[in-house]
Amino acid sequence: MGNARSPVLTWGGRTWQPPVPGKHGSGETGGALSSPAISRVESFSPPRKVTASDHRIIRGDALDIGDALIAEGLRGKVDLVYIDPPFASQADYINEVRLDGPADGRVVRTRAYTDTWSSDLAGDDGVGAYLDRLAPRLARMAELLSPRGSMWVHLDWRAAYLVRVILDEIFGRRNFLNEIVWRRAPNLGRQAASKQYGRTIDTIVVYGNSEAVLDPAKRLEPIEPNAIRLDDEGRRFTAAPRGDYTDESIKRLDAIGRVHRTSSGRVYIKYFLEKNADGEWCRDRRVDALWTDIAPLRHAPASERTGYPTQKPVALLERIIASGSPPGGLVVDLYAGSGTTAVAAHALGRRSIVGDTGGLSIAVARARLLRDGAPYTIDQCDANEVRPYSSSLAADALVITAIPNRQVQIELRQSEEPLAWAIDTDFDPNRGFVVTWHSEHQPGAKSRPVERRAIAPASPNLAVRIYGTDGSVSDYYADATQLRSASEEAEKQPFLATKQDIL
Ligand SMILES: C[S@@+](CC[C@H](N)C(=O)[O-])C[C@H]1O[C@@H](n2cnc3c(N)ncnc32)[C@H](O)[C@@H]1O
Repeated sequence: MGNARSPVLTWGGRTWQPPVPGKHGSGETGGALSSPAISRVESFSPPRKVTASDHRIIRGDALDIGDALIAEGLRGKVDLVYIDPPFASQADYINEVRLDGPADGRVVRTRAYTDTWSSDLAGDDGVGAYLDRLAPRLARMAELLSPRGSMWVHLDWRAAYLVRVILDEIFGRRNFLNEIVWRRAPNLGRQAASKQYGRTIDTIVVYGNSEAVLDPAKRLEPIEPNAIRLDDEGRRFTAAPRGDYTDESIKRLDAIGRVHRTSSGRVYIKYFLEKNADGEWCRDRRVDALWTDIAPLRHAPASERTGYPTQKPVALLERIIASGSPPGGLVVDLYAGSGTTAVAAHALGRRSIVGDTGGLSIAVARARLLRDGAPYTIDQCDANEVRPYSSSLAADALVITAIPNRQVQIELRQSEEPLAWAIDTDFDPNRGFVVTWHSEHQPGAKSRPVERRAIAPASPNLAVRIYGTDGSVSDYYADATQLRSASEEAEKQPFLATKQDIL
């Protein structure tokens, strides 16, 4: 933590105080830590669990979720926190669901979240209000980190310089690890035409606890053919001057065949080469803090682009998670957006807890995990009032028909295309909605709408959940008596169901 001579950021109306070491539990401004109500509203376990990872999505404010996780005993248990909070951009962010693929005109636009700030103080552009909100959330998430844990905060030019000072206050200047610059966009169009250098970069500020170590990524860099040599053992290598290697190090490298001597006796270090996917000979190099090799999201495969505003590429999160957390480790992102952190954590065999205040964020993150076959739970977290997670589905949105073998056919009748829908064949309000059948809109060039029809057992506890393109959630609970009698009636009628239809 900071000391009396460390720089401290002030802003009009600042009330936030960083936690005192060893004295946890400062609320929004420094009060007592409350324990918000947290309840399970949905879960999914794939039939065959492919990895050891599991994922928790929590709808709620980052501060409330942080408090709830601490109350659950997660203080000091998290390996990596990544957040990509709003940047004080004074803008609204719009989600786009492209119903017919990228080229067509049918697009549903909904506001995903707001990043506008204001205050009553004269001349204030709202940045103080922004910092008032962000600072206690950063501090709470820092409490979750294990002694080896690191926190990665993704920002841009608007807030990076301010948030670094706050992170200095939370972690102490000594615990700063890196300032990574990621080129998030090419210098084209408006950026290139402006009378400034293009603002095409984001900054990721990294702090760590006392034992934090990062394992920086490596990348294969192609070597010019005329710089490739062959040693006596037939190994391809490229050579570089010894630089600041000491005689001791040269001796050590010589012993393992890594030293090349020219005919005049000059010493070079050998770097053995390997081929990349394109068959070029490459040197394996450690990545530094300038990341220009992770393409902007617009160059990611269309199926990765969800339409959620400010979504980050999975490749970016994979690099961060791989370098800052162990396999099987726990990764947290309480500004989850489209859930990129959970998707990348799943791909790398890490567990994740992601949270967001927005319904659209939860709906999109959930759909991505389902498309990847990842197990997840969804919780709702509220500090003050307990909001319902879903509303009831309009009666005419579904048509449920009894069919033989004590089954029902469920058909979506609502005209709007949903983002996703699911069935729980044995709904129990005490354990939340358990997904036993599901279908999600597939974004991308080959965009696919949800399936409109499903077949389920005519269970007395059948429930259907629909996620709208605006992030709304609506549920239908079957009328048990009606279902049973209709199903018995249907036993008498022939019905051919394809194998795929059966749950
Ligand atoms: C820049 S987006 C994150 C994008 C994300 N990294 C991705 O790849 O999709 C910021 C997110 O923070 C959420 N958010 C804003 N304030 C929040 C708060 N106090 N607690 C939790 N989430 C919040 C917004 O709803 C929005 O989804």
